[in-house]
Amino acid sequence: MTKKVTVPDIRATKQNGNRFTLVTCYDYTSATMIEASDIEMILIGDSLGMIMLGYDGTVGVTIEDVVHYGKPVKRGAPSKFIIADMPFGSYNVSVEQGIISANRLFTGIGCDAVKLEGGKRSAGVIRGIVEAGIPVCGHIGLTPQTSSLMGGFKVQGKSIEAVEELLADAKAIEEAGAFLIMIEGVTAAGTQYIRKNIGIPIIGIGAGADCEVQALILHDMLGLYEWAPKFAKKFADLRPQIIDAFNTYHKEVVEGVFPSPEYSYNTKVEGLED
Ligand code: KIV
Repeated sequence: MTKKVTVPDIRATKQNGNRFTLVTCYDYTSATMIEASDIEMILIGDSLGMIMLGYDGTVGVTIEDVVHYGKPVKRGAPSKFIIADMPFGSYNVSVEQGIISANRLFTGIGCDAVKLEGGKRSAGVIRGIVEAGIPVCGHIGLTPQTSSLMGGFKVQGKSIEAVEELLADAKAIEEAGAFLIMIEGVTAAGTQYIRKNIGIPIIGIGAGADCEVQALILHDMLGLYEWAPKFAKKFADLRPQIIDAFNTYHKEVVEGVFPSPEYSYNTKVEGLED
Protein backbone atom coordinates (compact mmCIF):
# COMPACT_ATOMS: atom_id res chain seq x y z
CA MET A 1 0.00 0.00 0.00
CA THR A 2 1.33 3.45 -0.92
CA LYS A 3 0.78 6.73 0.97
CA LYS A 4 -2.17 8.60 -0.55
CA VAL A 5 -1.07 11.32 -2.97
CA THR A 6 -2.63 14.78 -2.72
CA VAL A 7 -3.44 17.62 -5.13
CA PRO A 8 -0.14 19.37 -4.17
CA ASP A 9 1.79 16.09 -4.81
CA ILE A 10 0.21 15.86 -8.26
CA ARG A 11 0.87 19.54 -9.01
CA ALA A 12 4.50 19.09 -7.90
CA THR A 13 5.12 16.42 -10.57
CA LYS A 14 5.39 19.27 -13.05
CA GLN A 15 8.69 20.29 -11.39
CA ASN A 16 10.03 17.30 -9.47
CA GLY A 17 9.96 14.67 -12.21
CA ASN A 18 7.83 12.18 -10.21
CA ARG A 19 5.65 9.94 -12.36
CA PHE A 20 2.27 8.58 -11.25
CA THR A 21 -0.01 5.89 -12.69
CA LEU A 22 -3.78 5.82 -12.94
CA VAL A 23 -6.23 3.05 -13.83
CA THR A 24 -9.97 3.15 -14.20
CA CYS A 25 -12.08 1.19 -11.73
CA TYR A 26 -15.80 0.57 -11.29
CA ASP A 27 -16.12 -2.13 -8.61
CA TYR A 28 -15.05 -3.06 -5.06
CA THR A 29 -13.01 -6.22 -5.78
CA SER A 30 -10.84 -4.55 -8.41
CA ALA A 31 -10.46 -1.53 -6.11
CA THR A 32 -9.06 -3.76 -3.34
CA MET A 33 -6.43 -5.08 -5.79
CA ILE A 34 -5.46 -1.55 -6.82
CA GLU A 35 -5.33 -0.66 -3.13
CA ALA A 36 -2.79 -3.47 -2.66
CA SER A 37 -0.67 -2.16 -5.56
CA ASP A 38 1.71 0.77 -6.13
CA ILE A 39 -0.71 2.58 -8.49
CA GLU A 40 -1.43 6.02 -7.05
CA MET A 41 -4.65 7.13 -8.76
CA ILE A 42 -8.04 5.78 -9.86
CA LEU A 43 -10.55 7.17 -12.34
CA ILE A 44 -14.19 6.19 -12.03
CA GLY A 45 -14.55 6.77 -15.75
CA ASP A 46 -17.72 7.13 -17.75
CA SER A 47 -16.12 4.32 -19.80
CA LEU A 48 -18.22 2.30 -17.35
CA GLY A 49 -20.93 2.78 -19.99
CA MET A 50 -19.10 0.34 -22.28
CA ILE A 51 -17.31 -1.80 -19.70
CA MET A 52 -20.03 -2.28 -17.08
CA LEU A 53 -23.24 -1.51 -18.95
CA GLY A 54 -22.55 -2.73 -22.51
CA TYR A 55 -23.33 0.63 -24.17
CA ASP A 56 -21.73 1.63 -27.49
CA GLY A 57 -20.13 4.73 -25.93
CA THR A 58 -20.12 6.95 -22.87
CA VAL A 59 -23.22 8.99 -23.73
CA GLY A 60 -26.12 7.61 -21.68
CA VAL A 61 -24.13 7.26 -18.47
CA THR A 62 -25.77 9.33 -15.72
CA ILE A 63 -24.39 11.06 -12.65
CA GLU A 64 -26.21 8.45 -10.51
CA ASP A 65 -24.45 5.65 -12.46
CA VAL A 66 -21.08 7.19 -11.58
CA VAL A 67 -22.08 7.51 -7.91
CA HIS A 68 -23.41 3.92 -7.88
CA TYR A 69 -20.21 2.42 -9.34
CA GLY A 70 -17.97 4.89 -7.53
CA LYS A 71 -19.02 4.25 -3.91
CA PRO A 72 -17.64 0.67 -3.76
CA VAL A 73 -14.41 1.85 -5.40
CA LYS A 74 -13.87 4.33 -2.58
CA ARG A 75 -14.60 1.58 -0.01
CA GLY A 76 -12.09 -0.76 -1.66
CA ALA A 77 -9.32 1.78 -2.25
CA PRO A 78 -9.36 4.33 0.58
CA SER A 79 -5.70 5.26 0.13
CA LYS A 80 -5.85 6.09 -3.59
CA PHE A 81 -6.47 9.49 -5.16
CA ILE A 82 -9.88 9.09 -6.82
CA ILE A 83 -11.16 11.17 -9.74
CA ALA A 84 -14.80 10.77 -10.80
CA ASP A 85 -15.98 11.50 -14.34
CA MET A 86 -18.78 13.97 -14.98
CA PRO A 87 -20.92 12.25 -17.63
CA PHE A 88 -22.38 13.88 -20.73
CA GLY A 89 -25.40 16.04 -19.88
CA SER A 90 -24.31 16.70 -16.30
CA TYR A 91 -22.48 20.00 -17.00
CA ASN A 92 -23.44 21.29 -20.46
CA VAL A 93 -26.58 23.24 -19.44
CA SER A 94 -25.12 25.84 -17.08
CA VAL A 95 -22.34 26.51 -14.58
CA GLU A 96 -24.87 25.93 -11.80
CA GLN A 97 -25.78 22.51 -13.21
CA GLY A 98 -22.07 21.63 -13.35
CA ILE A 99 -21.55 22.63 -9.71
CA ILE A 100 -24.59 20.60 -8.59
CA SER A 101 -23.31 17.55 -10.49
CA ALA A 102 -19.76 17.93 -9.13
CA ASN A 103 -21.18 18.26 -5.57
CA ARG A 104 -23.12 15.00 -6.09
CA LEU A 105 -19.92 13.12 -7.05
CA PHE A 106 -17.79 14.76 -4.38
CA THR A 107 -20.19 14.09 -1.50
CA GLY A 108 -21.82 10.90 -2.84
CA ILE A 109 -18.57 9.04 -3.60
CA GLY A 110 -16.12 10.96 -1.45
CA CYS A 111 -13.82 11.35 -4.47
CA ASP A 112 -10.85 13.71 -4.48
CA ALA A 113 -11.51 15.47 -7.80
CA VAL A 114 -13.87 15.48 -10.77
CA LYS A 115 -13.02 15.33 -14.47
CA LEU A 116 -14.92 16.86 -17.35
CA GLU A 117 -14.37 17.07 -21.08
CA GLY A 118 -13.83 20.14 -23.23
CA GLY A 119 -11.35 23.00 -23.46
CA LYS A 120 -12.45 26.61 -24.06
CA ARG A 121 -16.12 25.59 -24.14
CA SER A 122 -15.88 24.10 -20.61
CA ALA A 123 -13.74 26.86 -19.03
CA GLY A 124 -16.72 28.62 -17.37
CA VAL A 125 -18.01 25.48 -15.69
CA ILE A 126 -14.48 24.45 -14.61
CA ARG A 127 -14.01 27.87 -12.97
CA GLY A 128 -17.38 27.55 -11.20
CA ILE A 129 -16.60 24.07 -9.80
CA VAL A 130 -13.10 25.12 -8.67
CA GLU A 131 -14.55 28.21 -6.96
CA ALA A 132 -17.07 25.91 -5.26
CA GLY A 133 -14.09 24.10 -3.69
CA ILE A 134 -13.78 20.96 -5.81
CA PRO A 135 -10.50 20.10 -7.59
CA VAL A 136 -11.00 19.71 -11.35
CA CYS A 137 -9.16 17.72 -14.01
CA GLY A 138 -9.79 18.84 -17.60
CA HIS A 139 -9.90 16.44 -20.58
CA ILE A 140 -9.00 17.26 -24.19
CA GLY A 141 -7.93 15.52 -27.39
CA LEU A 142 -10.05 12.52 -28.28
CA THR A 143 -12.99 13.29 -26.03
CA PRO A 144 -15.35 10.27 -26.14
CA GLN A 145 -18.49 12.22 -25.11
CA THR A 146 -18.25 14.31 -28.29
CA SER A 147 -16.40 11.84 -30.52
CA SER A 148 -19.16 12.02 -33.15
CA LEU A 149 -18.09 15.65 -33.80
CA MET A 150 -14.60 14.30 -34.58
CA GLY A 151 -15.92 11.61 -36.92
CA GLY A 152 -15.36 8.82 -34.38
CA PHE A 153 -12.47 7.66 -32.21
CA LYS A 154 -9.67 9.31 -34.23
CA VAL A 155 -6.17 10.35 -33.15
CA GLN A 156 -6.03 14.12 -32.62
CA GLY A 157 -3.23 16.69 -33.03
CA LYS A 158 -1.91 15.57 -36.41
CA SER A 159 -1.20 19.07 -37.76
CA ILE A 160 0.42 22.16 -36.21
CA GLU A 161 -2.95 23.96 -36.47
CA ALA A 162 -4.67 21.14 -34.58
CA VAL A 163 -1.95 21.09 -31.91
CA GLU A 164 -2.18 24.90 -31.47
CA GLU A 165 -5.94 24.52 -31.04
CA LEU A 166 -5.41 21.85 -28.38
CA LEU A 167 -2.85 24.09 -26.65
CA ALA A 168 -5.38 26.94 -26.58
CA ASP A 169 -7.88 24.54 -24.97
CA ALA A 170 -5.28 23.37 -22.43
CA LYS A 171 -4.44 26.98 -21.52
CA ALA A 172 -8.14 27.81 -21.08
CA ILE A 173 -8.48 24.85 -18.70
CA GLU A 174 -5.40 25.91 -16.73
CA GLU A 175 -6.57 29.53 -16.52
CA ALA A 176 -9.98 28.34 -15.29
CA GLY A 177 -8.23 26.78 -12.26
CA ALA A 178 -7.95 23.06 -13.09
CA PHE A 179 -4.97 21.39 -11.37
CA LEU A 180 -4.57 18.61 -13.93
CA ILE A 181 -5.49 17.86 -17.52
CA MET A 182 -6.10 14.56 -19.27
CA ILE A 183 -4.90 14.36 -22.88
CA GLU A 184 -6.35 11.37 -24.72
CA GLY A 185 -5.55 10.00 -28.18
CA VAL A 186 -3.13 12.74 -29.26
CA THR A 187 0.16 12.42 -31.18
CA ALA A 188 3.16 12.07 -28.84
CA ALA A 189 4.83 15.12 -30.41
CA GLY A 190 1.65 17.17 -30.03
CA THR A 191 1.37 16.27 -26.33
CA GLN A 192 5.03 17.10 -25.77
CA TYR A 193 4.49 20.56 -27.30
CA ILE A 194 1.42 21.20 -25.14
CA ARG A 195 3.24 19.98 -22.01
CA LYS A 196 6.10 22.44 -22.60
CA ASN A 197 3.66 25.33 -22.84
CA ILE A 198 1.36 24.81 -19.86
CA GLY A 199 1.92 25.02 -16.11
CA ILE A 200 -0.18 22.07 -14.91
CA PRO A 201 0.59 18.34 -15.14
CA ILE A 202 -0.85 16.05 -17.79
CA ILE A 203 -2.47 12.63 -17.51
CA GLY A 204 -1.78 10.95 -20.82
CA ILE A 205 -3.75 8.08 -22.30
CA GLY A 206 -2.64 7.26 -25.82
CA ALA A 207 -0.66 10.51 -25.75
CA GLY A 208 2.95 9.28 -25.59
CA ALA A 209 5.49 9.07 -22.78
CA ASP A 210 5.93 12.78 -22.06
CA CYS A 211 3.23 13.07 -19.38
CA GLU A 212 3.39 13.33 -15.58
CA VAL A 213 0.68 10.68 -15.12
CA GLN A 214 -0.02 7.69 -17.36
CA ALA A 215 -3.55 6.27 -17.50
CA LEU A 216 -4.99 3.01 -18.77
CA ILE A 217 -8.42 1.43 -18.68
CA LEU A 218 -8.21 -1.48 -16.25
CA HIS A 219 -10.04 -3.91 -18.55
CA ASP A 220 -7.65 -3.05 -21.42
CA MET A 221 -4.44 -3.45 -19.44
CA LEU A 222 -5.57 -6.79 -18.00
CA GLY A 223 -6.81 -8.08 -21.37
CA LEU A 224 -10.39 -8.50 -20.10
CA TYR A 225 -12.34 -6.56 -22.71
CA GLU A 226 -13.13 -7.83 -26.20
CA TRP A 227 -11.21 -5.03 -27.90
CA ALA A 228 -8.40 -2.61 -26.99
CA PRO A 229 -6.82 0.38 -28.79
CA LYS A 230 -3.20 0.33 -30.07
CA PHE A 231 -1.82 2.29 -27.10
CA ALA A 232 -3.29 -0.07 -24.48
CA LYS A 233 -0.50 -2.48 -23.57
CA LYS A 234 -1.84 -5.71 -22.08
CA PHE A 235 0.13 -6.20 -18.86
CA ALA A 236 -1.83 -9.45 -18.47
CA ASP A 237 -4.07 -11.37 -20.89
CA LEU A 238 -6.77 -12.64 -18.57
CA ARG A 239 -9.74 -13.00 -20.93
CA PRO A 240 -8.59 -16.28 -22.56
CA GLN A 241 -7.57 -17.62 -19.14
CA ILE A 242 -11.02 -16.85 -17.73
CA ILE A 243 -12.81 -18.45 -20.68
CA ASP A 244 -10.55 -21.54 -20.23
CA ALA A 245 -11.53 -21.66 -16.54
CA PHE A 246 -15.26 -21.50 -17.46
CA ASN A 247 -14.79 -24.35 -19.96
CA THR A 248 -12.77 -26.50 -17.53
CA TYR A 249 -15.49 -26.02 -14.85
CA HIS A 250 -18.18 -26.98 -17.38
CA LYS A 251 -16.23 -30.06 -18.56
CA GLU A 252 -15.53 -31.27 -15.01
CA VAL A 253 -19.21 -31.00 -14.04
CA VAL A 254 -20.36 -32.79 -17.20
CA GLU A 255 -17.75 -35.55 -16.64
CA GLY A 256 -18.55 -35.91 -12.92
CA VAL A 257 -15.09 -34.76 -11.82
CA PHE A 258 -16.28 -31.70 -9.90
CA PRO A 259 -17.19 -31.45 -7.08
CA SER A 260 -14.88 -34.15 -5.74
CA PRO A 261 -14.97 -35.01 -1.98
CA GLU A 262 -12.32 -32.35 -1.46
CA TYR A 263 -14.91 -29.70 -2.40
CA SER A 264 -17.85 -31.24 -0.47
CA TYR A 265 -18.94 -31.18 3.20
CA ASN A 266 -18.31 -34.83 4.09
CA THR A 267 -19.53 -34.88 7.72
CA LYS A 268 -21.54 -38.02 8.43
CA VAL A 269 -25.24 -37.27 9.01
CA GLU A 270 -26.68 -39.11 12.07
CA GLY A 271 -29.51 -41.46 11.04
CA LEU A 272 -28.71 -41.46 7.33
CA GLU A 273 -27.63 -44.76 5.80
CA ASP A 274 -24.29 -44.73 3.84
O1 KIV B 1 -13.90 7.33 -18.95
C1 KIV B 1 -12.72 6.98 -18.99
O2 KIV B 1 -12.37 5.85 -18.63
C2 KIV B 1 -11.74 7.92 -19.48
C3 KIV B 1 -10.49 7.31 -20.05
C4 KIV B 1 -9.98 8.11 -21.19
C5 KIV B 1 -9.44 7.06 -19.04
O3 KIV B 1 -11.93 9.09 -19.43
